[in-house]
Amino acid sequence: MERIEWDGSVQLGHPQVDAEHRQIVEMYNKLIDDRTAGVEVDLGESLIFLANYVKTHFDSEEGLMTAAGYPAHGNHHKAHEALLKDVENRVQSFLAGEDADVDELVGFLRSWLINHIQGHDAQFVAWLKEQGARAAS
Ligand SMILES: [Fe+2]
Repeated sequence: MERIEWDGSVQLGHPQVDAEHRQIVEMYNKLIDDRTAGVEVDLGESLIFLANYVKTHFDSEEGLMTAAGYPAHGNHHKAHEALLKDVENRVQSFLAGEDADVDELVGFLRSWLINHIQGHDAQFVAWLKEQGARAAS
């Protein structure tokens, strides 16, 4: 199980978005570190906590999009909903004992997080910067 390094590949250059992403990445890394160190953790509880924080983060990101009048807000919202449903389904089946492959689940979370940050979010922050540059010129 691999940690996610907080480096230039996941930092987008927007203070609020980065701070929230960092929080999620740290939660994820704590999970990995605890498991690697053999610390007894309630994985179900950690996953629920993570999923809840992700939902809060999505709401906050969408607040930024509304405030900025982001034209791709609708698409981003759909992507958020789909991703959240995906995560919630995985967490639910884990809790129900149907998905006991922890490594696979953690791997899914890892690629899910990285894709979220490097995909839609990177596009949104790039758009915001472009708007800022336009306003400044
Ligand atoms: Fe995000």
